[in-house]
Amino acid sequence: MPSFQQLVSGALLALALPSHAAPQFSPGNSTVPSPPSSSAILFSVGANGPNAPVIFPLSNGFPNIVNNTPAYQALTVQAHGSISNAPPPASLALDDLRSFKVVELQETFEVYFYTQLLLNLTNNVPGFEISDPALKQDIINKLIVIQGQEQWHSLQAGGVLQHFNVSRIQPCQFKSPATDFTTAIQLAANFTGVVISTLQDVATRLGRNGDSAVVRGVVSVVGTEAAQQGVFRTLLGDLVPGELPFLTQSTREFAYSALQQNFVVPGTCPNDNTIDVPIFGTLNVLTKNIAAANQILTFSIERSSAQGLSLVFINQQNLPIVQAISNATTSNGVTTFQANFPFTSNNLNGLTIAAVTNSSGPFINANDVANKTLFGPGLIYPN
Ligand SMILES: *[C@@H]1O[C@H](CO)[C@@H](O)[C@H](O)[C@H]1NC(C)=O
Ligand SMILES: *[C@@H]1O[C@H](CO)[C@@H](O)[C@H](O)[C@H]1NC(C)=O
Ligand SMILES: *[C@@H]1O[C@H](CO)[C@@H](O)[C@H](O)[C@H]1NC(C)=O
Ligand SMILES: *[C@@H]1O[C@H](CO)[C@@H](O)[C@H](O)[C@H]1NC(C)=O
Ligand SMILES: *[C@@H]1O[C@H](CO)[C@@H](O)[C@H](O)[C@H]1NC(C)=O
Ligand SMILES: *[C@@H]1O[C@H](CO)[C@@H](O)[C@H](O)[C@H]1NC(C)=O
Ligand SMILES: *[C@@H]1O[C@H](CO)[C@@H](O)[C@H](O)[C@H]1NC(C)=O
Repeated sequence: MPSFQQLVSGALLALALPSHAAPQFSPGNSTVPSPPSSSAILFSVGANGPNAPVIFPLSNGFPNIVNNTPAYQALTVQAHGSISNAPPPASLALDDLRSFKVVELQETFEVYFYTQLLLNLTNNVPGFEISDPALKQDIINKLIVIQGQEQWHSLQAGGVLQHFNVSRIQPCQFKSPATDFTTAIQLAANFTGVVISTLQDVATRLGRNGDSAVVRGVVSVVGTEAAQQGVFRTLLGDLVPGELPFLTQSTREFAYSALQQNFVVPGTCPNDNTIDVPIFGTLNVLTKNIAAANQILTFSIERSSAQGLSLVFINQQNLPIVQAISNATTSNGVTTFQANFPFTSNNLNGLTIAAVTNSSGPFINANDVANKTLFGPGLIYPN
């Protein structure tokens, strides 16, 4: 993990690059007005104000923002644009409406996360202080645009549901394990990676279900999230912007499971019972700070044995890799085990999704794995 010092100097280095010279968020030239002082808040905050944990609705009304209202116009300025004004398709398959339920909740979580991160930064919460005022303002200004774009992503998914007379997914109370700015950006890189991977599944299903008209919009979101990801990766000790030539595949089951396991306060979602997508058991990746190298990884699951189970790694667009589970020990209903992470022979750069399955495969793709998954996803994201 990079130290805070390394992180900040990496960011300064990035700011010094010529490519940053053109569209700067400089005072007087930005569509997002820069605050006169660091105490001014120019983004919407949670219902209980800027000094309380973020809960919905936000101060601009999100997730209830109606077309052609001042809140709609303000969000358009903040996010550098708005949802499409083209008419929606005449119909949408039930399976695709199911995808948009997952997408709406995921994107609403992201709105929570960036709002809370912005408040942590502007309130100088311990661990979130950035001493260089210009760097701090630059990071805040960029996060404000991201916070706006994530509101639109959520509103777009919710709008699709509403148009087809399906109840929108109401916000839950969310949480995050971030303890400082570095872990917050690492976390953002991890969940953004999963979202980008999962939208591949959403687009594939749209095509298969005869809803290709919506694929364009979904792929446009993939690009926006990937651009955000590039900035997070630059902040994180200067990782290459694009981690892989073909990003890792995932499925909506893995994304929804990760969301519920890690970021939702249990029992606080008003209508997640309407999301007909499985939530797998938690697969804990016990090995910390995993390097980009061959190694034995240690995992745990809540189950009395690992008998008959396999560990599967999903990386890039390649065939899933099945590994034997070994060294399993069980105590108090928790089974801890090991498996080989064959980095070198498979070029396991970037995001790898791990799953415990009740089949040893072979598997053809991520959906095939999800179909036999009992525990997952475990996220392995070394570089
Ligand atoms: C605003 O941007 C334009 C074009 O990039 C540039 O010529 C101008 O100097 C900038 N103004 C300020 C106040 O930064
Ligand atoms: C949604 O319900 C309204 C009222 O029942 C109806 O007029 C409309 O056609 C429905 N929309 C769709 C897309 O089914
Ligand atoms: C904000 O700060 C609190 C207190 O340190 C921390 O628990 C929380 O995870 C942080 N959230 C984000 C999104 O940075
Ligand atoms: C993903 O999260 C893990 C665990 O916090 C962290 O070690 C890793 O650096 C993160 N990956 C990226 C690319 O941020
Ligand atoms: C299992 O434990 C043995 C002994 O500690 C070790 O040599 C081996 O690498 C471990 N893991 C695997 C996947 O075999
Ligand atoms: C899982 O595979 C079975 C058998 O091929 C298939 O009938 C089922 O629809 C699949 N389920 C999912 C969720 O993909
Ligand atoms: C394997 O797991 C899948 C997914 O949970 C489940 O549908 C299937 O019934 C299981 N198969 C066996 C043989 O346990």
